Amino acid sequence: MNREAHATYDRLPGTETTGVGQDGPTGRPLPDFLAPAPLTNHGPARIIAMCNQKGGVGKTTTTINLGAALAEYGRKVLLVDFDPQGALSVGFGVRTHELDQTVYTLLVERGVDVRDVIRSTSVPNIDLLPANIDLSAAEVQLVGEVAREQILARVLRPVLDDYDVVLIDCQPSLGLLTVNALTAAHGVLIPLECEFFAMRGVALLIETIDKITDRLNPRLQIDGILPTMYDGRTLHSREVVRSVVDHFDELVFHTVISRTIKFPDATLAAEPITSYASTHAGAEAYRQLARELISRGGSP
Ligand SMILES: Nc1ncnc2c1ncn2[C@@H]1O[C@H](COP(=O)(O)OP(=O)(O)OP(=O)(O)O)[C@@H](O)[C@H]1O
Ligand SMILES: [Mg+2]
Repeated sequence: MNREAHATYDRLPGTETTGVGQDGPTGRPLPDFLAPAPLTNHGPARIIAMCNQKGGVGKTTTTINLGAALAEYGRKVLLVDFDPQGALSVGFGVRTHELDQTVYTLLVERGVDVRDVIRSTSVPNIDLLPANIDLSAAEVQLVGEVAREQILARVLRPVLDDYDVVLIDCQPSLGLLTVNALTAAHGVLIPLECEFFAMRGVALLIETIDKITDRLNPRLQIDGILPTMYDGRTLHSREVVRSVVDHFDELVFHTVISRTIKFPDATLAAEPITSYASTHAGAEAYRQLARELISRGGSP
């Protein structure tokens, strides 16, 4: 990791004394996540589902900004909006109500080419498979389908060689759409808001992941738990992170995402924070997450 990058990370609230080898915000020594080597060829993609049935924990924000950080490191990234709210699509400036073809069309209609639905974005190396409110009908419509849990995996298969990583932004539920995302995925990344009730749903989420590993997708792994909306000035945030690490140990990323208004601001500007406020600690935190994920083998 370059010195400047690390200096920026040091300025995260509550982590001012953090340095490589010293304890990071998770209370463990912070490894030096080196800048990844450029890829010489691309694909096949590793698929990661961004998943937590609790709402508003940073799934969409992490999909956008981790995706943008991986793209900065030269990875070819496909982002899949798998939430009928379409927040990921809106986050890239897409007028979702005007879309004829979305991920929903691919799920319910035969003969639609996924390449005709994928759009490029203003961010180099990032493509988007958009969604809109139509997707809310899918759960009910797909119930009677054969292999209904495997439909997204089938939809994505033709383009996996075009990308290095696919990030799926799940909706806040453990229904059939999320089961489809987990069945298509190699890994799950669990954003967890730093507040006391955050852990309540995690046991159920992990139970669901275990069931899917057993019955539908034996390759599925938990790539990591990402503490989000961290405020190091409060004892509360620090205690939540400590108890998450006590429970989940090495599953918890060393990278922690601080709470900052720059994230909603960047969303309003329809830009990742890595371009909206490139030198901000929040942008640097997502770059560190990208490096940490790559170093764990979670992305090429
Ligand atoms: N680190 C952060 N600091 C401050 N605000 C944040 C942070 N991360 C996300 N937000 C804001 O919190 C809100 C919820 O975040 P986000 O949409 O990413 O969560 P989500 O888990 O995708 O929500 P949902 O479950 O509704 O899909 C958004 O307004 C977002 O801009
Ligand atoms: Mg979301």
